[in-house]
Amino acid sequence: MNRDVIIACDFASQEELFEFLAKFDDVHPKPFLKVGMELFYAAGPQIVKEIKARGHKIFLDLKLHDIPQTVKKTMRVLSELDVDLTNLHCAGGIEMMRAALAGLTRADGTRPLLIGVTQLTSTSQETLEQELLIARPIAEVVREYASNAQKAGLDGVVCSPLEAATVHADLGAKFLTVTPGIRFPDAAADDQHRVTTPAQAHDLGADFIVVGRPITQAADPVAAYKRCVTEFC
Ligand code: C5P
Repeated sequence: MNRDVIIACDFASQEELFEFLAKFDDVHPKPFLKVGMELFYAAGPQIVKEIKARGHKIFLDLKLHDIPQTVKKTMRVLSELDVDLTNLHCAGGIEMMRAALAGLTRADGTRPLLIGVTQLTSTSQETLEQELLIARPIAEVVREYASNAQKAGLDGVVCSPLEAATVHADLGAKFLTVTPGIRFPDAAADDQHRVTTPAQAHDLGADFIVVGRPITQAADPVAAYKRCVTEFC
C-alpha cells in the first residue's frame, strides 16, 4: 500500500463526523479515515458501513486485547465490516495475534491489514517499571513487541515516526509503520509528547501518518489535509 495520510476522526457523534466530512465533498480521492473507540461505541458498526459507502478507506482503531478465542471471533465480525486496516495490542501475545489474523481472514483468503500497538505513547518509562513491572527500556520493549507482531504474521505496528526507521531496519521496509504524533512546525503539540512534522515523518520512512487535531480543529480542514498530503506523500 502507498504512503498515505489518515485523518483521525475523534468525534463524539455521527452528526459531528458528517458535518466534518461535508467539507471534503470536492476532495478526490476521498481521505483515508481512522474511526476510533469513541465514535464506534457512540454510533455503532453502521457508521463504518456508511463511511465506506461514501468512498473512504477506513482504519478501525479498536485496539483489541483479550483471550485468543475472543479476539479471533471479534476480528471475524470486524472483517465483515470491510475495513481496510485494524489493530490490536501486541501485549496480548503471539498466540492472540495469530488468532486475530485467523479471525480476520475471509473465506476467499482476503483480509484487512492488521497492525499492532506496541506501547501506548502515553506509557512512560516510570509506568512501565513501577506499574507494569517491566524493567526494560521502553525502546527495547517496542522493538521486541514489534518483532513478536511480525512473527505472528501481522503487517506492521503503530509507532512514533521517531521509531519508524528502527522498526524498518529491524523488520524490513515492507513491515508497515503507522504513526500518530504529527504536528505542523508552527503549531502546538497539545497532549502529544514526541511530535514530528509530516515532512519529518516522510524522511523517517513512516508508511502512514495519523493526523487528528491539526486537521479536525483547523480553521480550514481541507487545506490542512492537503498540506499534510503535499508534505508527507
Ligand atoms: O489529534 P492527534 O493528531 O493528536 O490524534 C492522534 C490520533 O492517534 C488519536 O486518535 C490518538 O488516539 C491516536 N494515537 C496516538 N498515539 C498512539 C496511538 C494512537 O496519538 N500511540
